[in-house]
Amino acid sequence: MNILILGSGGREHALAWAVKQNPKCDRLVVAPGNAGIAMIAECADFDIMDGGAVVDFATENAVDFVIVGPEAPLAVGVADRLRAANVLCFGPGQAAAQLEASKAFTKEICAAVNAPTADYGHFTDADAAKDYVRAKGTPIVVKADGLAAGKGVIMAFDQATALSAIDDMFSGEFGAAGAEVVIEEFMEGEEASFFVLCDGVDVLAMGTAQDHKRAFDGDKGPNTGGMGAYSPAPVMTDDVIAKTMDEIVRPTMAEMARRGMPFQGILFVGLMIKDGQPRLVEYNVRFGDPECQVLMMRLGAQVFDLLQACAEGRLSEAQVNWADDHALSVVMAAQGYPAGYEKGSVIGGLDGLPEDRSHMVFHAGTGLRDGKIIATGGRVLNITARGRSLAEARQRAYGMVDAVDWAQGFYRRDIGWRAL
Ligand code: AMP
Ligand code: GLY
Repeated sequence: MNILILGSGGREHALAWAVKQNPKCDRLVVAPGNAGIAMIAECADFDIMDGGAVVDFATENAVDFVIVGPEAPLAVGVADRLRAANVLCFGPGQAAAQLEASKAFTKEICAAVNAPTADYGHFTDADAAKDYVRAKGTPIVVKADGLAAGKGVIMAFDQATALSAIDDMFSGEFGAAGAEVVIEEFMEGEEASFFVLCDGVDVLAMGTAQDHKRAFDGDKGPNTGGMGAYSPAPVMTDDVIAKTMDEIVRPTMAEMARRGMPFQGILFVGLMIKDGQPRLVEYNVRFGDPECQVLMMRLGAQVFDLLQACAEGRLSEAQVNWADDHALSVVMAAQGYPAGYEKGSVIGGLDGLPEDRSHMVFHAGTGLRDGKIIATGGRVLNITARGRSLAEARQRAYGMVDAVDWAQGFYRRDIGWRAL
């Protein structure tokens, strides 16, 4: 089959790496890709936010299957355009992508099906939002309604912070994403990421992982897109998984179908778990990054069969074959990330690193200049390893990290601390 993956991060490198191992994969194109992806697939340069351009590329190149990596093209309806052109596509249409693109939409769905999540209020003007904060007290969480690349969430531990976050959002600091604001009860507990394949009718749990959101060791510093991950997440016991499926995932999927917007793709269920009870923090409509990297490392070639079965509505026949293994990924980022950082520094030491079923360097923000790998983004490399235990995976991953020669980068030394 001819396969096209949309995206350019470590998530898409990991997807490409897994898909490529499947014998059904004849030709693999990633748009736009990055320097690491270019080592294992063809890269194509067109605007993946432009549904017409994606359809044109797919039809001109006889693409049999499109896998959409990030949320942004899903939120503007690229999957709908592909399906309308009879191209098989993994990922939800625009209506179902609201589960990530609008926090108010998700909260309303949760309320309709009684799924456990934080209490909330939804506001279109600052005064009402501030009254709500004054009435509820702190800690409280202020969120821009729309897509804000992970930056539209302010955890306020005092009233002044909450009130100024409300002003910032309504004054346009987060652009259109902040035109509406959701204010939530602050939930305590342990966070986990749970991934469920959904074909519009059936659901299939794919795996669990834990991310590390803060920039620095000890969960200090600013929030980021994620500085490292491991899989499985011990907090996701069979009992917690069963509760999550019964109380949150299945009711949400049934409600989406009932409203005429069945969800097809990977549902990323962000959870807060306390005393064995999961509550929903958020849904995303795509794989997590870097959670995808550890899931792909563990699942390998079968990923393609699972995504294809999902897109073709055959999930009831599919199953996930888990090995009793662990994977861990360390994100190497450019100094200054998540704020300003320099681009263009040269990364050395990558050639000598092992690349096999237990060791992979997934590239995120990289490019090629004069035959050398350079940093072109905030999160730059995802050093990923697999092992029989989490400790073994971690030792292998940091062994590789130590061999990378990149003075302009930084990383966390404590990925996996919670589980070890
Ligand atoms: P979100 O973009 O909704 O995932 O929020 C980003 C991060 O903020 C989450 O991963 C949590 O760590 C935190 N967060 C969001 N909502 C809440 C909440 N209601 N209570 C506690 N933490 C939250
Ligand atoms: N790592 C969290 C996310 O992808 O949203």
